[in-house]
Amino acid sequence: MAEVIVVGSRKAAGALVAEAIERLVGTRPDAVLGLATGDTPLPVYRALAERVRAGLDLSAVRGFALDEYVGIPVTHPESYHSVIARDVVGPLKLNPAAVHVPDGRTLGIETAGERYEVAITSSGGIDLQILGIGTDGHIGFNEPGSSFASLTRVKTLTRQTREDNARFFASIDDVPVHSITQGLGTILRAKRLVLLAFGAAKAHAVAAAVEGPLSASVPASAIQLHPRATVVVDEEAASMLTELEYYRDAFAQKPIWDPVIL
Ligand code: PGA
Repeated sequence: MAEVIVVGSRKAAGALVAEAIERLVGTRPDAVLGLATGDTPLPVYRALAERVRAGLDLSAVRGFALDEYVGIPVTHPESYHSVIARDVVGPLKLNPAAVHVPDGRTLGIETAGERYEVAITSSGGIDLQILGIGTDGHIGFNEPGSSFASLTRVKTLTRQTREDNARFFASIDDVPVHSITQGLGTILRAKRLVLLAFGAAKAHAVAAAVEGPLSASVPASAIQLHPRATVVVDEEAASMLTELEYYRDAFAQKPIWDPVIL
């Protein structure tokens, strides 16, 4: 089962995950991070950027974004190429050549998934995958119905996801219809998973992912199949978890030999 950690704020979540990443990079300077986009991982990137300003060197770290829209120019400010460059590569002083985002250009899209899988495998695999969760239970852009065995491929976005992401565009009509996303099978190959969720709007999806039955209808429930998955949530996102008191107890009694996240 995933370890659930309830934190008091987004900032505290960011600090917790940044600390784990600093420890990972301490033992493996060229660690491979799986990078989520959206609002959720921003506290992690902000906390890491603070550490970089204080001297942490992430210049050998490699990265793979989870997903990209299909058919928007990479130079569009909301393409995940742009978002990753702006929110992650710049502030964390990563080597841009070592950070990959799926190729969402329509020309060659048929092979883009396979090319991305080869790139991930050739890197030795993702050491720590950061995940957000959609209100519809998606991780990456694996919408409900996605196979637990799926690899990087094109997915059609649900209306709900396009509505959720319309805030980044002039209108919902400007939100791309297709995405290219790491599959659930790709995500499950990462050595560690850290799923973050904040706010009441995520509470239902979090409960279904952590405690609901394994189901392709809740793609995030795939994390139950991973031996090292940690879920970091604020009180609101945790509010529908049935076993909340147990998770609090387990964290309070965490053995000292069992480091947080790693
Ligand atoms: P959000 O998106 O972090 O912007 O809420 C999460 C997701 O859709 O995976």
